Amino acid sequence: MQFLVLGSAAGGGFPQWNCNCGNCQRARAGDPAATPRTQSSLAVSADGEHWFLLNASPDLREQIACNRPLHPRRGKRHSPIQGAVLTNADVDHVGGLLTLRESQPLNIYATRRVQGVLRDNSLFNILNPEFVERIGLPIEEPVELRHTDGAPSGLVVTAFPVPGKVALYLEDATAGENFGTVAEDTVGLRISSGDRVAYYLPGCAALPASLQARIAGAELVFFDGTTWTDDEMLTTGVGHKTGQRMGHMSMSGAEGSLQAFAGIPVGRRVFIHINNTNPVLLDDSPQRREAEQAGWEIGYDGMEIML
Ligand code: MLT
Ligand code: MN
Ligand code: ZN
Repeated sequence: MQFLVLGSAAGGGFPQWNCNCGNCQRARAGDPAATPRTQSSLAVSADGEHWFLLNASPDLREQIACNRPLHPRRGKRHSPIQGAVLTNADVDHVGGLLTLRESQPLNIYATRRVQGVLRDNSLFNILNPEFVERIGLPIEEPVELRHTDGAPSGLVVTAFPVPGKVALYLEDATAGENFGTVAEDTVGLRISSGDRVAYYLPGCAALPASLQARIAGAELVFFDGTTWTDDEMLTTGVGHKTGQRMGHMSMSGAEGSLQAFAGIPVGRRVFIHINNTNPVLLDDSPQRREAEQAGWEIGYDGMEIML
């Protein structure tokens, strides 16, 4: 099983178009210790020939251009991309579907809830229903992803709910503390091929014991790396929301992911969905050193992992 990190940044990317924080300034200036990153997406393949996107970011066009395995190979119209699996309906995870227009067969997997959000937004009808299948992803049920010709891919995906938040543009201010969030709004994915197992959790607000037990023993975990501290958007002066308010647990502190993962046996642990304010994005920061010393890898665009 092969993974490609197409985009390792959170929504907005690094640098973000309107952000003038210290990190973004360094990235924009071409500082070699502040490598730019595109928005949150991976690709996975069991055979190196057929690929599935894990989330489809607004930067997908550029991500496909930068990753040769995703280029057309034969005929006048072709794509190795067989489909996409979505973990939520956030703009950074569904915006790229609009890039996949032009009557190309695709299988789009998402929970019923997320499929409903796409269905209710007519813009996504640009994915020609004659060619694009929208397939419901049941919770806690292994599903073998299928190529567009129906052939089994060798990749089995199980979606499970994780603590999180409904997409920003669907928040219901009248619905109380959780803005109307339901379990199927944010899922994590267990992805397996034969006996190789990886997890993908780009949005996760907490790691309760049940979730810790679930991922224990995995060879590879891609995990929510949005913020270093919960109040980072405030302290860097770019916003008023905490990580928790956005549905993300931070890396540092007693409630952070470094601490939560410290006792969980997993092979490789890789941060993805990293917000542009996060100091781990800087190769020379003490926070980067601390994360690496805790056994983490900081995801970067173009990172390849073979299991
Ligand atoms: C998130 O991960 O919190 C969202 O992508 C934020 C957003 O929609 O901008
Ligand atoms: Mn996001
Ligand atoms: Zn910034």
